[in-house]
Amino acid sequence: MRIHQYERVWLLASMVLIVGFIATITYGAVGLGITMVDDRGATIAPDEINEDERFGDPRVEQVGDDEYEVYAVAMTFAFQPDPIEIPADSEVTFYVTSRDVIHSFYVVGTNTNTMVIPGEISVVTVEFDEPGEYGLICTEYCGAAHHEMEGQLAVLEDEEFDLTELEVEAPDEVEPDGEIEITATVTNGQLEAIEETVTVELGDETLEESVTVEGDDSESVTLTVDAADLGEGDHDWTASAGDLTESGTVSVVEGSEDDAEGDDDG
Ligand code: CUA
Repeated sequence: MRIHQYERVWLLASMVLIVGFIATITYGAVGLGITMVDDRGATIAPDEINEDERFGDPRVEQVGDDEYEVYAVAMTFAFQPDPIEIPADSEVTFYVTSRDVIHSFYVVGTNTNTMVIPGEISVVTVEFDEPGEYGLICTEYCGAAHHEMEGQLAVLEDEEFDLTELEVEAPDEVEPDGEIEITATVTNGQLEAIEETVTVELGDETLEESVTVEGDDSESVTLTVDAADLGEGDHDWTASAGDLTESGTVSVVEGSEDDAEGDDDG
């Protein structure tokens, strides 16, 4: 059989095209390491997110020497936590779920982008070598303010990164014959122990204490002052640990609590 020369050229060209298509699709699916939303992260009921151990308090957690886990929540129209801070040169696994509708978690300028589906937990593991600031946006249309749904991902130098938190418990009001207790709690979210100097100040009283906080643990320091020493009125307090500071005001007043008890009698 004789095939016309032109026909042979076209046949060959279409063969090359078909093989080329198959090759690019295969490379895209396997070669680049792109994965679909998988079920590694299992499922979660969107209305139980607040009670969930991981997503109730969206956060960054250290799980190994250079390994971190981020529990993030997407919702109309924000991401939590915001900003997300992670250290450079570490392997970070993001667990992301949605409170309401379908969103996405796209780290701008990288190939990290996953759909975030209510009820499912999307898992992406990424390694950021260089410190830098990345935008976080949603690429799935999710409502009127979809275009405003954004967050920040900060990849920090090792020295700048820490997971230390300071929480302070202090009363708002105290009776003139009562005691004021201010408790400062330092939480260490990293695995290595840290040393912090905790300072609590109220009126003329200052409490300074060095604490060692083991990894994934917390330590508390309490300053107790007699309200009588301060006198009636508003008194400012400050608590600090490292470069973290909290402050507030406690009022020494003839309380309404006693009155309320009196009312109960009547
Ligand atoms: Cu969330 Cu678009």
